[in-house]
Amino acid sequence: MKKLLAVILALCLTIPCFAALAEDLPVLKMGTNAAFPPYEYYDGETVIGIDAEIAAAIAEKLGMKLEIVDMEFGAIINAVATGKVDFGMAGMTVTDERLQSVNFSDSYATGVQVIIVKEDSPIASLDDLHAEGASYKIGVQEATTGDIYCTDDFGEDAVFKYKTGPDAVLALTSGKVDCVVIDNEPAKAFVAANEGLKILETAYVEEEYAIAIALENTDLLDSINDALAALDEEGVLDAIVSKYIGAAE
Ligand code: ARG
Repeated sequence: MKKLLAVILALCLTIPCFAALAEDLPVLKMGTNAAFPPYEYYDGETVIGIDAEIAAAIAEKLGMKLEIVDMEFGAIINAVATGKVDFGMAGMTVTDERLQSVNFSDSYATGVQVIIVKEDSPIASLDDLHAEGASYKIGVQEATTGDIYCTDDFGEDAVFKYKTGPDAVLALTSGKVDCVVIDNEPAKAFVAANEGLKILETAYVEEEYAIAIALENTDLLDSINDALAALDEEGVLDAIVSKYIGAAE
């Protein structure tokens, strides 16, 4: 009986204490757009995925508590630059234009822009999109590199911009656009989730994903790079990536 009381007493003392400890940790806010599996997407109310897990591991290394703020992809850079969030992580490609407004960490993954079409599509390659007289409608997620490259290459009129990747894919399945240009891993997830779609073999553009941090916040840039290097060394990055990619392929 005494033992039981002692256990109960110990529990009463430690549980609130742990809770207080977790609450007292400083918050590290991550801006993302959580419609981009396997990097960030919802499982019920929780944002999970490669970026969410790497970010949580970084926060742990920094002795901080991660908070994920979901927003439009096109709002992330500004949210980082104005300090609304501490960093942006969203399968985000390093581009010269973005580097004008934010710093990027070392790259933690690569991506490739690919083209999704319906299985019976007449589009068989990127060349078909460029073909003389071709006037295909291209769906993209607004403000992404897919949007930027396609708008440069095919002009505003050919490019149809949607708020999320899934919205662009819905436009494809419902016949509003003829193809969708988007990053390869989300493309695989969208094709797996929708009947009658395929990814063209010919890749469009290869890119590097990194974490965006405010230009003046060089301390955080350094700590994030140190944390990333340690997580890489410890095999944690690989373990997180293969939990979401690869195993199923
Ligand atoms: N890699 C592309 C870019 O940086 C697309 C990223 C979209 N990410 C997202 N979470 N929706 O523009």
